[in-house]
Amino acid sequence: MLNFIFQSGVQQIPNQDVSGLLFDKYQKQVEQHHLQKDPAQLDVLNHLQVLLSNVVNSLQFENLSRAKRILSQFPESCKSIYIHGDVGRGKSMLMDLFYEACPFQQKRRVHFHAFMLEVHEFVHQWRKQNRTGDMIMTMAKEIRASTKLLCFDEFHVTDIADAMILGRLFSQLFALDVVMVITSNRHPKDLYQNGLQRDLFLPFIDLLQEYCLTLDLPARKDYRLQHLHALQTRYYFPIDDQADKFIQNSFDELTAYAPQIPGKLEIKGREISLSAVHGDLVLSSFQELCEQPLGSSDYLELASEFTTLILSDIPRMSSKKRNEAKRFSTLIDALYEHKVKLICTAEVAPDELYLEGDGAFEFKRTVSRLIEMQSERYLQSNHISE
Ligand SMILES: Nc1ncnc2c1ncn2[C@@H]1O[C@H](COP(=O)(O)OP(=O)(O)O)[C@@H](O)[C@H]1O
Ligand SMILES: [Mg+2]
Repeated sequence: MLNFIFQSGVQQIPNQDVSGLLFDKYQKQVEQHHLQKDPAQLDVLNHLQVLLSNVVNSLQFENLSRAKRILSQFPESCKSIYIHGDVGRGKSMLMDLFYEACPFQQKRRVHFHAFMLEVHEFVHQWRKQNRTGDMIMTMAKEIRASTKLLCFDEFHVTDIADAMILGRLFSQLFALDVVMVITSNRHPKDLYQNGLQRDLFLPFIDLLQEYCLTLDLPARKDYRLQHLHALQTRYYFPIDDQADKFIQNSFDELTAYAPQIPGKLEIKGREISLSAVHGDLVLSSFQELCEQPLGSSDYLELASEFTTLILSDIPRMSSKKRNEAKRFSTLIDALYEHKVKLICTAEVAPDELYLEGDGAFEFKRTVSRLIEMQSERYLQSNHISE
């Protein structure tokens, strides 16, 4: 069963007044010193606030009986929002704030990459079952049955086949009054830059621009970097009685005190359990990632999905732990290639993690990467999600 067809039916929309709600929530975070007031973020919040009110009105209208609808004022249309800007500017944070504030269940927030995997799975099942009819329309209707609002984080397109499906799917979804909030590092016009057959992609850009209000978020600074700098270190050792606290503090600092909700990553039908996931940040342990039978493709998936990994309890490894050491190297390679920012606790310094045993010589590259990953230059590099 696909995630996006998990629930359906009419849902109750509370008669709640949502005006000003997002500003109240933002202000509360400012007062608690979790956020710094940023005028550019407030501008975007303003648009999200209008959308919030319109979506709630529109859902309340949909729930009215026909007779009551005739007597009511037709609600304002809900224009989807596409937020773009550099990393760390607060795009995901604003989307989260908006998403959490939406007082209804017909909503879904999903990393764009995960959504695409579901779309592929739908296509695969459709073909396997030899279903006939309009596949994309059916998919859109199934999504709409449970979802009025779709929030996509880190929208990007790397493949023309995906782009063709998306063009048709989004146009059906918009026609069915699905509302989207999208974050991306790129303006719609810059999506799929230099991609093959890009001319086929241009109608999709037009569609996005027609249905979405495109907002730039030129926030004052890269807040992610600021929070990374605020940590006492990013490689904490040894594992003493403060190590767990360090992990907790890092998570709090980087997520503005979000709750730790366990997550999972699905890769080709397999699942990796993760201690906590918040947006594009993941909290996991050496045990979860390196003592399980995982390989390069799992780590690459993880590294493309998340921009930041908080990893606890890296042990000193003896020759008996050569498999774990090998997996750890593969993990670090994947993180390094994708420029994932790593915060970790370890028993010993990088150059003492694995000194003898198979692959100890090659492990030197891992040590060097671990050190480089602490550098200012690495911290400032952009995550590579493709
Ligand atoms: N105004 C702000 N003050 C302090 N921290 C912020 C602010 N805006 C965002 N952050 C924090 O900065 C980090 C990066 O924000 P995020 O929303 O992930 O950026 P983006 O999605 O644009 O890359 C997060 O930890 C977020 O909580
Ligand atoms: Mg983001």
